Amino acid sequence: MAGIYTHIPFCKQRCTYCDFHFSTSFEVYREAVIKAISQELILRKNEISEKIQTIYFGGGTPSLLLKSEIELIINTVKNNFILGQNVEITLEANPEDISIENLILWKEQGINRLSIGLQSFKESDLTWMNRSHNLAEGIKSVKLAQSYGFKNISVDIMYGLPNLSSKEWKEHLQSVLALNVTHISAYCLTIEPKTALFQEVKKKKILPVNDEVQSTQFEEMIEFLALNGYEQYEISNFARDEQYSKHNSNYWKGVPFLGIGPSAHSFDGTYRRWNISNNTKYYKNVGLNDSWYEEELLSIEDQWNELFLTGLRTKWGVSKEKISLLGGFSEEEEKCINNYILGGEILETSTVFLLTKKGLLFRLAFCRCDC
Ligand SMILES: C[S@@+](CC[C@H](N)C(=O)[O-])C[C@H]1O[C@@H](n2cnc3c(N)ncnc32)[C@H](O)[C@@H]1O
Ligand code: SF4
Repeated sequence: MAGIYTHIPFCKQRCTYCDFHFSTSFEVYREAVIKAISQELILRKNEISEKIQTIYFGGGTPSLLLKSEIELIINTVKNNFILGQNVEITLEANPEDISIENLILWKEQGINRLSIGLQSFKESDLTWMNRSHNLAEGIKSVKLAQSYGFKNISVDIMYGLPNLSSKEWKEHLQSVLALNVTHISAYCLTIEPKTALFQEVKKKKILPVNDEVQSTQFEEMIEFLALNGYEQYEISNFARDEQYSKHNSNYWKGVPFLGIGPSAHSFDGTYRRWNISNNTKYYKNVGLNDSWYEEELLSIEDQWNELFLTGLRTKWGVSKEKISLLGGFSEEEEKCINNYILGGEILETSTVFLLTKKGLLFRLAFCRCDC
């Protein structure tokens, strides 16, 4: 099985915290980018021989796509790859794009999972974040999607936000629970250089919260969501009734995937490849020469690191068998892992190594969105 990720590098406006690859002035070349995405899919059809199990529209803001643009991308996948049964097709949607018209269109196109970016349940947060939706619109968008038959809905929220009291955070958790969604992705706010938020923090207009507050909110969330039927299956991801994101779970399990579009990353087990993070250079170069991407062959050491960094994020852990296939532990690594086991950060079973609750907190520094 394999997955296809398409990166849609368009956004209506710039959220203050975001350093993902996108442009807000894309109308002049949007058609060229979508055509190039379709062309890249065709050019790379022989890179994946397995059946496609998941298709993920990430961004940027894929909910800005027009009917003809979604159609072109999905039809190109259908015509050039072998699709498995019950393919999970996810679309990241911003609340302001969730209209009846779009919901009907997305259903018709086979999209069966929405990931909706709510971010916060506090109006003033949405304002400093420069989100293009308000609180009422955010909540309404989830309810509308549910009423139009979308059963598998994930919402993105953030914790570790400036000026968010413990009482407010607990209220946010109650609010997310009330939405009755199948999946929640909760990210701790990271202050990225080159963002407006970074400048605000530098000028001391916004005060970042300390690690202790973030850790407390993280712990409170894990406990609250577990009590209410959400299983934490990855550091930042919680699912009810095993409705895990198949697409993202496959990333963490090392399943091959094609990343299409500007800035998208691909992985085939031994090669990692990443496309140029420049929309114009991307659409001008796809198909002409190899200059729209770079790639690297992963050394055994890189593969070993990947195995640990991705496996330890999840409830499935790191397979001992896979560690052996990559040459096992050195004496020093063995000592290191034993120290973590003794310190209660890692748990060893007969088949895997897993992070404990204490270990999950220890990894907070790595907590960041995966698209
Ligand atoms: C790249 S966005 C794309 C989704 C969509 N455009 C939206 O805004 O909802 C994916 C998610 O990454 C998270 N994210 C982006 N920047 C972040 C940051 N600096 N710290 C924590 N989470 C972040 C947000 O929760 C966001 O919903
Ligand atoms: S958070 Fe989403 S909408 Fe906001 S700038 Fe980033 S990708 Fe665009």
